[in-house]
Amino acid sequence: MEKYPGKKNTAVFISGRGSNLKSLIKHSKKKNSLIKIILVISNNPDAEGLKYASKSEIEIYGIKNKSNFENKSLKLLDKYNIDLICLAGFMKILSGNFIKKFSKPILNIHPSLLPKYKGLNTHERAIKNKDRFAGASIHKVTEKLDSGKIILQKKVKILKSDDVRSLEKKVLKIEHEIYPKAIDKFLTNL
Ligand code: GRF
Repeated sequence: MEKYPGKKNTAVFISGRGSNLKSLIKHSKKKNSLIKIILVISNNPDAEGLKYASKSEIEIYGIKNKSNFENKSLKLLDKYNIDLICLAGFMKILSGNFIKKFSKPILNIHPSLLPKYKGLNTHERAIKNKDRFAGASIHKVTEKLDSGKIILQKKVKILKSDDVRSLEKKVLKIEHEIYPKAIDKFLTNL
């Protein structure tokens, strides 16, 4: 059951900095957002993002990669009645078994214009290939890495003067802008 009427109980999975988590928390606090972030789980107990989340009324858990991460997470998702998982800089690949057992939607943000550049080092590859545009995509998570249905994308121009760092900065800015929008779009069309 929804703990907050009209809002989906949401969990965010992170591994590090957590800047996307921060933008999602801000969004979740808005009256008209369709999510309420209840739970944050990290496969890295030292993730910087956990510190930010702990300042809000959110349950946070750091579960080491090797210590039965998926089973422990499934128990927490059940305990907190989670309806939606948002992966945000989560660097572990979830198994098909996990996706099946959770059985509700899982979304991910990826720093490229999918289906281009699945996996890592997306900005490096876009610059190397002399692409004119880079960007970010929010997609549904399926067993196949970075391949589920795309919900929203936005592109940015790659300038001749751009390097990996400057491009990452530009793309991150649009990530923060489109992830909340993509979630609400996805939930509206459910
Ligand atoms: C983001 O670029 C995200 O798209 C990618 O990893 C980065 C995580 O950044 N999967 P942050 O932890 O949200 O700051």
